[in-house]
Amino acid sequence: MFVPVNAFELGTTEQEFVLECLKTNWISSEGPFVQQFEAEFAKLHQRQFGIAVANGTAALDIALRVLGLKPEDEVIMPTFTIISPASAVWYAGAKIVLVDADPLTWNMAIEQIEAAITPKTKAILPVHIYGLPTDMKPLLELAQKYNLWVVEDAAEMIGQTAYGQPCGSFGHLSTFSFYPNKHITTGEGGMILTNDPELAERCRYFRNLCFEPNGRRFVHHNIGWNYRMTSLQAALGLAQLPRLAENLAQKRALGQFYQNNLKISQYADLPLKKMHYADNIYWVFGLVLKPNAPISAEELATKLAQLGIQTRPFFWCMHEQPVFQKMGLFENQSFPVAERLARNGLYLPSGLATTKKQLEYVVEAVHKIFCIVL
Ligand SMILES: Cc1ncc(COP(=O)(O)O)c(C=O)c1O
Repeated sequence: MFVPVNAFELGTTEQEFVLECLKTNWISSEGPFVQQFEAEFAKLHQRQFGIAVANGTAALDIALRVLGLKPEDEVIMPTFTIISPASAVWYAGAKIVLVDADPLTWNMAIEQIEAAITPKTKAILPVHIYGLPTDMKPLLELAQKYNLWVVEDAAEMIGQTAYGQPCGSFGHLSTFSFYPNKHITTGEGGMILTNDPELAERCRYFRNLCFEPNGRRFVHHNIGWNYRMTSLQAALGLAQLPRLAENLAQKRALGQFYQNNLKISQYADLPLKKMHYADNIYWVFGLVLKPNAPISAEELATKLAQLGIQTRPFFWCMHEQPVFQKMGLFENQSFPVAERLARNGLYLPSGLATTKKQLEYVVEAVHKIFCIVL
């Protein structure tokens, strides 16, 4: 049996909406589905403005850029993350300041943020990781106390809440990805949400090559990007929005299946089921091998692959990225929790279309590899 790490399904509404683009010739970013998707997505998150973009990385590039940071300005973010938030800070020309991961939720360690704040700090960039959100209440209190921007990376958290409020509604700017492993997919795609009309306007400006809204066309005062989303992509997103709750229920059922059936607690930590502010949505189902595990995470991945089961290793820490080391960044810095997660973590097949038979096969394979007899 082959079990892909991600599998998803598209429905008939997606076909209808995409066909409408084709029939009406509205396939570019000028097509009507883009604005509709922006409005619906923003409403779902109780935000006023949505700016649809080419992908989640582009959303972060723009969000950091519109803050107008200077080279000495500092942005605090987790070291345990995908590179996109860090590269966005780098492109914005500011300094990346890292904090370690929380051993329970795998998100940034909230209690380490205050010590990282200096007079040069301008923003905090939380990244919600794998299924449980960052604890936003104390983070927002710190941001308010020190008058800092919050840019919230909610790429993995579409539909998740913290303290009952939608993830992606906490930041001055919040960003999302619609890559096919997300809860809503447009193939490639992303979104920025904000309540600030000026920031929204600046996001649209940088998304569209910094064309001057009132100036002569093709005369530019700034360098931006073409990070526009097409109507074809927005058609897919809009068609899927009504299914979001169903998709999340499916993710939770997948996570619960692994939680109930994997009997490997002597060798691996499974994700936390809940925190006081959120239940896990299991965007992906991660395992972190313990020191006494008979094999490494890498060996486990190889053995599962031999049985047709795809996995992915956990993120690799930002302070250990060769590209940043080459730049002389993060010298002699160490973040032990994040380093342990990066070296010992992997995630199992977690797609929306993963079948019960496939999940049973994965559980059986993991038990076989660990020689666990039930
Ligand atoms: C937390 C996080 N941020 C940003 C991104 C980048 O999104 P994209 O792949 O759409 O550029 C991802 C991608 O998975 C992600 O997980």
